[in-house]
Amino acid sequence: MISHDREVIEMAFPTHRGRRTRETESLRRMVREVSLSPDDLILPLFVVPGEGVKEEIAALPGVYHWSVDLVHDPVREAWSLGVPAVIVFGLPESKDPRGSEAYAPDGTVQRAVAAIKEACPEVVVITDVCLCQYTDHGHCGVVEGGRILNDPSLELLARTALSHVKAGADMVAPSDMMDGRVGAIRELLDEAGYAHVPIMSYAAKYASAFYGPFREAAHSAPQFGDRRSYQMDPANAREAMREIQLDVEEGADVVMVKPALPYLDIIRAARERFDLPLAAYNVSGEYAMIKAAAQRGWLDERAVALEALLSIKRAGADMIITYFALDAARWL
Ligand code: PBG
Repeated sequence: MISHDREVIEMAFPTHRGRRTRETESLRRMVREVSLSPDDLILPLFVVPGEGVKEEIAALPGVYHWSVDLVHDPVREAWSLGVPAVIVFGLPESKDPRGSEAYAPDGTVQRAVAAIKEACPEVVVITDVCLCQYTDHGHCGVVEGGRILNDPSLELLARTALSHVKAGADMVAPSDMMDGRVGAIRELLDEAGYAHVPIMSYAAKYASAFYGPFREAAHSAPQFGDRRSYQMDPANAREAMREIQLDVEEGADVVMVKPALPYLDIIRAARERFDLPLAAYNVSGEYAMIKAAAQRGWLDERAVALEALLSIKRAGADMIITYFALDAARWL
């Protein structure tokens, strides 16, 4: 190792000039450390009951609610632009305390997965596994006496994951933040003959206000309290490493940090510590901020979006879930 002092002396001006390798675009291409490609992107999809539905979501301009009969459209587009994967979120017909439509064999997500696999068999279909869109209280687990119960939620989450896989999902992504859910899902999938299906765990998921537009899109806002008893405190970085470690031990194949931009330090720390593929979720609020500023003419949408996505890559993410997936793939 060269000592720090020596490095400083060797790098001194005017012998060294950083600008030499920035002079032309060709030189810049040669020294560029990271790059963004459609391969890195995962497109989120919101699927709703009904037929013939394609409705723009107010807080997410350019993002739509799709009914099952039309959802092949954005999937084919994503695939043709080189985006290898989509992640499916569903809205149910009706909600109840135990979120039973989450694991109904003919639920919205289950039917959407089957339709997508039929229309575009090669695309990787990931499903978000959670209960909050399906429970009448809007929490990600079973509620009793105002508390969100951990262990009784695991069975329902595992059943949800299994129902997605039975419908054809290629990967399941639990986003509920109950302790032990990765292990519970792994066990049930293995028992049912799906040992080959990977789990992408929302391992370090923070209790973030940046999910605001998503909750409007997914009608999943908690009806009482908040999610701070299960999602992580934004102040904690070391705890994120423990959360990821636990999910790795329980059998996660891909681990995720969420949100992305306000948590680039967590992405970097996770990259340095774990060798598994790392995903980052560029969440709804991160998207909405750029969209809103661009609509007012305050920011150049394309340049800012690509810079934001590149920064997530540079921090260490291998894959990025982003509402910019289609646009970014077009721009790249
Ligand atoms: C479900 C879930 C949420 C998001 C992804 N899965 C909302 C939440 O936890 O409240 C947020 C995604 C986004 O904001 O884009 N638990």
